[in-house]
Amino acid sequence: MSSCVYSGAGAGSGSGGAPGDGEVPGAQDGEVLDGNVGMMYADYLQLDKVLSAQRMLSDTADEHLFIITHQAYELWFKQVIFELDAVRDMFNTEDLVLDETRSLEMLRRMNRIVLILKLLVDQVMILETMTPLDFMEFRKHLSPASGFQSLQFRLLENKLGVRQEYRVKYNQNYAAVFGGDAAAVEAIERSEREPALAELVQRWLERTPGLEAHDFDFWGRYRAAVQTMLEDQRRDAEAQATAAGRARALADWQRRAAELRSVLSPEAHAALVSRGERRFSLRALQGAVLITLYSDQPRFSQPHQLLTTLTDIDSLITKWRANHVLLVQRMIGSAQLGTGGSSGYQYLRSTLSDRYKVFLDLFNLSTFLIPRRYIPPLSEGMRSRLSVAPPPPPPTGDDDDDNDDTPLDARCPASPAATAAAAAAAAAAPEP
Ligand code: HEM
Repeated sequence: MSSCVYSGAGAGSGSGGAPGDGEVPGAQDGEVLDGNVGMMYADYLQLDKVLSAQRMLSDTADEHLFIITHQAYELWFKQVIFELDAVRDMFNTEDLVLDETRSLEMLRRMNRIVLILKLLVDQVMILETMTPLDFMEFRKHLSPASGFQSLQFRLLENKLGVRQEYRVKYNQNYAAVFGGDAAAVEAIERSEREPALAELVQRWLERTPGLEAHDFDFWGRYRAAVQTMLEDQRRDAEAQATAAGRARALADWQRRAAELRSVLSPEAHAALVSRGERRFSLRALQGAVLITLYSDQPRFSQPHQLLTTLTDIDSLITKWRANHVLLVQRMIGSAQLGTGGSSGYQYLRSTLSDRYKVFLDLFNLSTFLIPRRYIPPLSEGMRSRLSVAPPPPPPTGDDDDDNDDTPLDARCPASPAATAAAAAAAAAAPEP
């Protein structure tokens, strides 16, 4: 029997809990184990190292918070990179076949990254409790140390797909700060060389089933649907009651038509890619539109969730950048240089632009969405390929839009039901 003061008849509970708290009998029993029986908590976590790593350079109390906050960020960056590497490995297969187990695992890891990033966005608030006057007390000791020198932040950017040419000018030479550290330089170079998540996602989207012209020919059908929609919308604009209303509606229609035509014309798309205003290849963008328009089809459900988490990741990193910029302005204003040598607030503000959105095309995807009534209906064959049930036997008749008999599992991104046979078929299937 426990000697806890809350236990026993006097406390009105037979098991040690407060009356009525529903505690299970024996919940307070048990032995307190010590290091004689094995490794202890502090050893396992190496807390001696972690908790002695807060070296204050001033006697300002808030410097402690400043250090802890940065260290907590770096630990979470480490975890995000760990998850991101795992996701990239899952994508980076020879045949690009994602079986159900892998796609579920991938979604789990991606959702975890999203949750960590949410935490990191909010964590800025804690540092906002520091006053600029307190920060001023120890800031002078920091120079030239700066978050600009965070190796893990750069690895994270590179592994996601922030490419050198998209960085703003000051940031293009970011690797120079690691000059004296061979291991850091090697890690940076590897992260620039290896396929980033954005590139892997692009390759995966390019194989979305239904894109092939000899098959469902989604893009041919989409093009026709867009043309019908634009004609209807132009008629509606011309039917406006007043001249001013007509002019406004037509101007709006023209803008929208130009945007939609830019995705229908490979040349226009290529021009936008060369200016960095679009990132994905046209085929990958088509895959993303296809998945999004038919996301209610069972086999597109996971791919659609995946696209959503990618947008979430980009969105949260942009939010972190925004929160960080606001923190910086609150702490040092908009005129002081950063301890790392940049223009400070002004430099950081420039990193909020679309240049740093890795999945920019997913953000802009709604530009290419069309109302449900214009979405091309699925053919019988395509519908059955996108259903959960196993694909039907290859068509024998003259169903000319479904004459591709490659098994779905070999062609559907994140497709479920990964049998060994499907994987073998996938390996044998020619690339579209
Ligand atoms: C009082 C709080 C903070 C101030 C005043 C501050 C200030 C700055 C400044 C001025 C820069 C621009 C580079 C330079 O010239 O130094 C910068 C960059 C950066 N800081 Fe902070 N920072 C603060 C907190 C944090 C925290 C908590 C983190 C978390 C890891 C962080 C991470 C970064 C990163 C990753 C960059 C590089 C951003 C980029 O180049 O896109 N900072 N910071």
